[in-house]
Amino acid sequence: MRGLIGVDIGGSGIKAGVVDSRRGLLVGERVRVDTPQPASPEAVVKATAALVAGLGPDAGPIGIGVPGAIVGGRVMTAANIDPGWIGMHAEALFAEEIGRACIVMNDADAGGVAEMRYGAGRGVKGVVLFLTLGTGIGAALFVNGILVPNMELGHIEIRGKDAETRASASARERREQSFAEWAPALSEYLNRVDALVWPDLIILGGGISRKAGKFIPLLDVRPPVVAAGLQNQAGIIGAAARAREILAPPPRRRAPAAQAATRASTARTTRAGSGR
Ligand code: BGC
Repeated sequence: MRGLIGVDIGGSGIKAGVVDSRRGLLVGERVRVDTPQPASPEAVVKATAALVAGLGPDAGPIGIGVPGAIVGGRVMTAANIDPGWIGMHAEALFAEEIGRACIVMNDADAGGVAEMRYGAGRGVKGVVLFLTLGTGIGAALFVNGILVPNMELGHIEIRGKDAETRASASARERREQSFAEWAPALSEYLNRVDALVWPDLIILGGGISRKAGKFIPLLDVRPPVVAAGLQNQAGIIGAAARAREILAPPPRRRAPAAQAATRASTARTTRAGSGR
């Protein structure tokens, strides 16, 4: 499958690129437009279609990450996007406008998939929690590399408030905090999540992960915490990789009993057919 496109829809920008999902790399430029305001489904779908059209003819299926819980292609929550998205069958809307097969998923799930395949979580077994710290807090949980989708852990309540309003990167900016001032709120959040999930590893992503050296050493939490490896490309790369996985899944391995039956029947045919 050539030319997979990944799209990452955020509150301020829509980013896209053609992805080599075997190597986990962008092929060519990452393209971006501002997210239309208001970010109604119609406006976002049209802007995405125009962006994708600019990526050229070598483009196949499309994976799209959206900041909300996604069930069966439908948007279930909209904490940081226009509430008009709730209940919309995003997958059908995008596919109709773009004219290609589209797979829609939660944006953090997309980023997490990329980190597990090609980034900081590569080859890590056990329970891995990927958290993206941006406008909101997105979460993706992996058990032996398998995604448990739609972990909306940015919305647990801490001190009477939605956690992402205290511990996200945008909360830090809004409060004009230094990394040292923000780190205790982030530690408190990570410790609360740890008490619910008990991960073996936490990977922190989002644009702020570029500055991980300034805040990860300040955290006081039980599990090891590392920075994401793919930074702001993870959402695009992971969306494309997941679309590939869903649209062209690897051949299914048959159950051992079926394999044994096939081997026996092949042996019979070979003996009968040898004719000597
Ligand atoms: C949303 C999540 C999303 C995260 C990061 C949260 O507010 O509820 O679905 O993954 O922001 O964009």
